Amino acid sequence: MQQTESWAARSTSRLIVLLSSERSGSTLLRVMLGAHSRILAPQELFLLRYPDFETWRARKPVAMESLVELFTLLGRPMDAAAISVGCAGRSTPGVYEWVFDFVPRGLFVLDKTPAYANDATTLTRSAALSPFYIWLIRHPLGVIDSHVRLKMKERHRRPLPKRVLRPLRDAVEEWTDGMSALARTREAKWILQNSNVRNFLRDVPASQQAVLHFEQLVRAPEAVVQKLCAAIGIEPEAGMVKPKTRQVMNPKLGDPNFHLHGKIDAQPAESWAERYTEAQLQPEARELIEQLGITKARALDPHAA
Ligand code: A3P
Repeated sequence: MQQTESWAARSTSRLIVLLSSERSGSTLLRVMLGAHSRILAPQELFLLRYPDFETWRARKPVAMESLVELFTLLGRPMDAAAISVGCAGRSTPGVYEWVFDFVPRGLFVLDKTPAYANDATTLTRSAALSPFYIWLIRHPLGVIDSHVRLKMKERHRRPLPKRVLRPLRDAVEEWTDGMSALARTREAKWILQNSNVRNFLRDVPASQQAVLHFEQLVRAPEAVVQKLCAAIGIEPEAGMVKPKTRQVMNPKLGDPNFHLHGKIDAQPAESWAERYTEAQLQPEARELIEQLGITKARALDPHAA
């Protein structure tokens, strides 16, 4: 019988793209994967969002920090000026081609940027690179809860009128609707991003993708890492489940609260359930969690595979 070759064995490309909605635990997964000796996992690259290097440079200047970090991880330090010379005039696939000329065979580059899930054009652009895709899904109320807490923290640093008026408006909305406009906006984004990823991955071969659930990742990291590594075609390594969780991220390129978790913490898998119920979700979100098999009962089931 013919053996099915793993993606890692047959692919000439060495890119892994991590797709998720923001606040889904993507920074944690990036750091866990980056602990593997064969995976280079810089902060968010944002490259696939743009058609070419010059547009990326003009529209997302902060992301150069991630590309510089990638070269440091490669042991080939290069500054922004040198990278700009190498990538001048290149299309986005051309930029990856140039970068991969520096990546030794057998190594992988993890490209985790939640904003990739915002539109189909970005997702389609990635297809030319034949990457391995990881789709990280978190229960929408976990995402909403995390987003609302983050924004509240940011608002506390704002001038007094905004600090008072916005929370007042939120309180009124919550009283009438059960959820603030902030929460509703985040819900809509979760639906859009996860629908985009689902539609896109329908046409990607099963051997080239893996679906992961945040709740299982933080509850049973060993089992999830083992399954994921098997899907990619690499051996799991012990360091992946003991990631360096004290790193401070650039808030524009990753989770600003990442360093506050001292370890892989199972509690965020269910803390939202103290504040929200699934009945508060819009019908479209409820339908999607059913279809994705991530209803509360399943998301919080410790035995769910
Ligand atoms: P909160 O800290 O607000 O709960 P992302 O990186 O995709 O933006 O996701 C951020 C969320 O990942 C965090 O949001 C937290 O829920 C989760 N997270 C980050 N570090 C974690 C850790 N060490 N253990 C468990 N969950 C973690």
